[in-house]
Amino acid sequence: MTEYSRRVTGIEMSGIRKFFQKAKPDSVNLGIGQPDFPTPKHIKKAGIEAIENNLTGYTFNYGVPELREALSKKFKRENNLSYSADQIIVTAGAGEALHIAMQTLVDEGDKVLFPDPGFVSYRECAVLAGGIPEPFALTEDLEIDPEALKSMIDDAKVIVLNSPGNPTGTVESVDTIRAVVEYADDKGVTVISDEVYEHFIYDGDKHVSAAAFGDNVVTINAASKTFSMTGWRLGFIAGSEDFIEQSVKVHQYCQTCATSISQYAAIAGYTGSMDCVWEMRDEYEARRNLLYDGLTNLGFDFKKPGGAFYLFVPMNEETFKKIIDAGVIAIPGDAFGENSKNYARFSYAASEENIKEALLRMKNII
Ligand SMILES: Cc1ncc(COP(=O)(O)O)c(C=O)c1O
Repeated sequence: MTEYSRRVTGIEMSGIRKFFQKAKPDSVNLGIGQPDFPTPKHIKKAGIEAIENNLTGYTFNYGVPELREALSKKFKRENNLSYSADQIIVTAGAGEALHIAMQTLVDEGDKVLFPDPGFVSYRECAVLAGGIPEPFALTEDLEIDPEALKSMIDDAKVIVLNSPGNPTGTVESVDTIRAVVEYADDKGVTVISDEVYEHFIYDGDKHVSAAAFGDNVVTINAASKTFSMTGWRLGFIAGSEDFIEQSVKVHQYCQTCATSISQYAAIAGYTGSMDCVWEMRDEYEARRNLLYDGLTNLGFDFKKPGGAFYLFVPMNEETFKKIIDAGVIAIPGDAFGENSKNYARFSYAASEENIKEALLRMKNII
């Protein structure tokens, strides 16, 4: 009989995907964590042109120079960060970037801190790297309490930040991000900052990058959510030159390079007008308001989150089951960690019509 490695038997498939397999065919799907918009036309066109121009071979491991240059300018323009093109690796989505960051930073037995509720990959990537996963709890409003975190940071190797957050939708305050990054920096702990939802922040609020407050930060981002390109698998990771020199080895031996076609398409995204992104943002904001108002009218009591496209709603198991039986798909909170049991994640990356239908179905049973 084949014996599998403990690293792999020690992790689980994401509860999110398992859940979809059980859904009824006529259910309204508020479970899915990907934009429901098509990739903008000028980006698709650049991808098609890349194919037609036979730009279909391997690229440099680090990525196409023109894209790395565009990303360096993006960091300056949008995040006020001075990452040179040499400090960026283009990856197969933020997912690969997370994996290579953990492999590069974490040794056997190193403690890796991440938010719980939090995105499903943090724990599993830490375990795959041989680390000891240590989830940290959030406040009742699903925010980080920097003071409560300090003692946990002291002996950690890495801490993951994710603002705006999945599944919470929380946009952390500038003060919180600054406090965590500065404290981690003092203690020699590296921050991995996952910023894939940076463009989806509402109420006129602005994104703040963790790397603005310290040097010991690795920044992860992707075209996936920004340009509705999840299937193109295009992300990137930025850090110190040392970090890039080490982490590109992991990238080389698992991925070689990100898909060439996607890289050329992404150049059009990052050098083009951002109007298409702001249109998506405005649409998400309207849907957030619709879903939030609907759920609070049904009696759910929680703070309105400021970003991403999720509402993480406190509810007991019985109510959750009733909602699923009524034909509305949400994700059970426990897919996002041990502290997340009495919640459900609703995604509003769904049409207004579907959100209204879901609210109607819930109204009938609550
Ligand atoms: C917080 C967060 N980070 C990373 C990812 C992975 O993104 P990608 O599709 O670019 O791999 C996701 C996807 O849902 C996410 O929600």
